[in-house]
Amino acid sequence: MSHPLSKNYSFPTIAPSILAADYTRLGEDIKACTEAGVSWIHCDVMDGHFVPNISYGSLVVEAARRSAPEGFLDVHLMIYNPDRYINDFAKAGANLITVHVEADPHIHRTLGAIKELGLYRGVAINPGTPLTAIEELLPEVDLVCVMSVNPGFGGQKFIQSSLQKIERLITWRKHMDLNFLIEIDGGAGPGNVEDIAAAGTDVIVAGSSVFGANDKNEQIQKLFQKAIIGSSNLT
Ligand code: DX5
Ligand code: ZN
Repeated sequence: MSHPLSKNYSFPTIAPSILAADYTRLGEDIKACTEAGVSWIHCDVMDGHFVPNISYGSLVVEAARRSAPEGFLDVHLMIYNPDRYINDFAKAGANLITVHVEADPHIHRTLGAIKELGLYRGVAINPGTPLTAIEELLPEVDLVCVMSVNPGFGGQKFIQSSLQKIERLITWRKHMDLNFLIEIDGGAGPGNVEDIAAAGTDVIVAGSSVFGANDKNEQIQKLFQKAIIGSSNLT
């Protein structure tokens, strides 16, 4: 059974992370993405505690919402105690909120609260955290975000063993008869997007490879094409 979001979006999809955008022209950068066919926009919120970097909060998510009124805003909270802030991000226009299993001792309750707000729920897992840490949460989520870098910064190298986590998640999803989407986050670009999609990833986050390109439109087309080629042998 496919996820209800599959009715509105086709997967695999590319979700540009605006962490790598030019903040003097955020609206234009986002529009360049939507005009190139992007429907998912990934927003990286960092608190300087859970991860060693501070990025932005709900004000920027709200600006992204105004720049892409029809876009699907995928908000990745790399913050401790995310339950305190989910209302703010819901108001800012998030469609999906992802929280880290390592950042919240009461994550089951937080996922319930996200659902209560009428939003989709995601759980993210760091490269060093075993998949078993999220096993009991899988029936409670719409998306699992597999971190393929240690979170905190854009532009890092893809951790290859993340693909094994994807493969195991796909097996679990089948055995548990669930339909959550699988996202990969960090280090994705033209050189590996085909392999990432071939592993069965539904949502591929790409920050520096999109916003660092001279021609964003051309780069986005390339990433979409490679993702579709990669996924073409999946059943
Ligand atoms: C890492 C963030 C990622 C990151 C992706 O902490 O969660 O979303 O910005 O950026 P690239 O594609 O540059 O690795
Ligand atoms: Zn992210």
